[in-house]
Amino acid sequence: MKTMTTVLAAALALALAGCAAEPEPAAPTPAPTAAQDTPAATDDASAAAGGIALAAQARVVLAEVQGSGVTGELTFDPDGDALRLHGEVRGLAPGSVHGFHVHETGDCSAPDATSAGGHFNPGQMQHGDRQSEGPHHAGDMPNLTAGDDGVGRVDIRLQGLQIDGDADRDVVGRAVIVHAQADDYATQPTGNAGARIACGVVELVQPAPDYQGPAS
Ligand code: CU
Ligand code: ZN
Repeated sequence: MKTMTTVLAAALALALAGCAAEPEPAAPTPAPTAAQDTPAATDDASAAAGGIALAAQARVVLAEVQGSGVTGELTFDPDGDALRLHGEVRGLAPGSVHGFHVHETGDCSAPDATSAGGHFNPGQMQHGDRQSEGPHHAGDMPNLTAGDDGVGRVDIRLQGLQIDGDADRDVVGRAVIVHAQADDYATQPTGNAGARIACGVVELVQPAPDYQGPAS
């Protein structure tokens, strides 16, 4: 019995040694595969940027509200399960901080831009801070901070928003608004960010091949 155990133990040790030795030559194999996938994905993105592939894109031109002098242009680009929003808002006071949201209705016609409705909130969530773990409206975005030149430079990733015709996440046909004051990320349902000083409607520039039209 003792001999048997010893033999088994020896066999097991050999088997383990064999197993341990095997992953070494096997390990490098997945790495080159991953390395090959990455440049391929980058090429697709480059093609999309060049307008060759049909990648969805939306844009918003911000117009001043009530003579604020604040204007801007922003672009939404798909980024996996999110949208990347990038661009500039001009005419702000140097160093000033402003509430910045996607609002529900793409209508900036009212003199005070209240026609754009409340924050885009398909999930019936509380207003909050997108950068924290807690709940927030789908349209809540980080405050916009102006540089010394009065230009707010935006480059943010907005998880859960898309350009795909799904009313629960599509930004097309909604509005982007800049407020006079900073969003406190707490006051319901507005963040107490004050008056609307710039407003623009999000318009589809380039639909994805299967796009069903803007959600309402
Ligand atoms: Cu707002
Ligand atoms: Zn909100």
